[in-house]
Amino acid sequence: MSDKIVLTGIKPTGMPHLGNYVGALKPLIEQSKSHKTFMFIADLHALNTIHDASQIKQHTYEIAALLIALGLDLNNAVLFRQSDINEIYHLNTLLNNVTPKGLMNRAHSYKAAMDKNTAAGLDVDAGINMGLYTYPILMTADILLYNSDIVPVGADQKQHVEFARDIAGYFNKTYGDTFKMPEPVIGEETGLIPGLDGRKMSKSYDNIIPLFAPEKELKKKIMRIITDSKLPEDKKDPEESTIYQLYKHFATDDEIAQFAEMFRAGGMGYGTAKTILFEKINSVLAEPRAEYERLMANTDEIDAILADGAKRASLVAAETLARVKKAMLG
Ligand code: TRP
Repeated sequence: MSDKIVLTGIKPTGMPHLGNYVGALKPLIEQSKSHKTFMFIADLHALNTIHDASQIKQHTYEIAALLIALGLDLNNAVLFRQSDINEIYHLNTLLNNVTPKGLMNRAHSYKAAMDKNTAAGLDVDAGINMGLYTYPILMTADILLYNSDIVPVGADQKQHVEFARDIAGYFNKTYGDTFKMPEPVIGEETGLIPGLDGRKMSKSYDNIIPLFAPEKELKKKIMRIITDSKLPEDKKDPEESTIYQLYKHFATDDEIAQFAEMFRAGGMGYGTAKTILFEKINSVLAEPRAEYERLMANTDEIDAILADGAKRASLVAAETLARVKKAMLG
């Protein structure tokens, strides 16, 4: 058991895809077996784009059910809803006062939103709310509130964790040593996991396979994977095949070696290869998918787990907030 504290938040914006699973969720769940982990559903961070409460609530259940179904170790991991912890709003307010406005101006996501407006001939700040602008401060509050050492995030969130370090540094310099320095850990680029068209699996390319798609949909998606025009009898290079690239993330070493050999030998058509891939992914996901569906039909159970998580998270949050208030307010 490591004594490092791992923390990460997942925004409730919809069902993750296989790329998210392989690149982020699976390693996180693995890590939760050996690390004290704070894992929360970042519903407050979804508010700047989703203005429909029922959607946020539904997506929050989905992410929670998914993590539980995938085997998040609830002994080591504290699973909770970000908005349930009152201290987060307090710390966010306090951190505003040590955060330079210029730092927020440099945030990639804010700059991207301004660039989009400019390109469209709109006012630079059109449609940009303060939730987007101050997003990195709230994320810093998340990271610092739970004394995080390790923050696993996708590459797109790296700057935010660096901002958290900057803000913790300003705070410590002004008020004395109060916060630990969190380390970003950038997950394996999900670019390694190809989508249906062979490009990186990504919502924006519309080439994803949803993690818990019902069996029929999973099969349909896999059958739609784009292949080249080689005939069944042709020898094929597995490394060039999306089918094989996906298979690698779900099979054992022996199975992978065997599948690669079937590509190289010739005699296996892409239809057969897709069926083998479907059966493999389906066999790995069938059990967690059934558990996911069971939980989604019993949201009381999810509520109870989140309530327990909130209780455990609050203990740490209260201690940190007291420390910060003392440093700032005496
Ligand atoms: N901003 C992150 C994302 O969009 C989610 C998040 C919120 C987060 N708070 C966090 C991640 C704290 C790590 C640590 O993916």
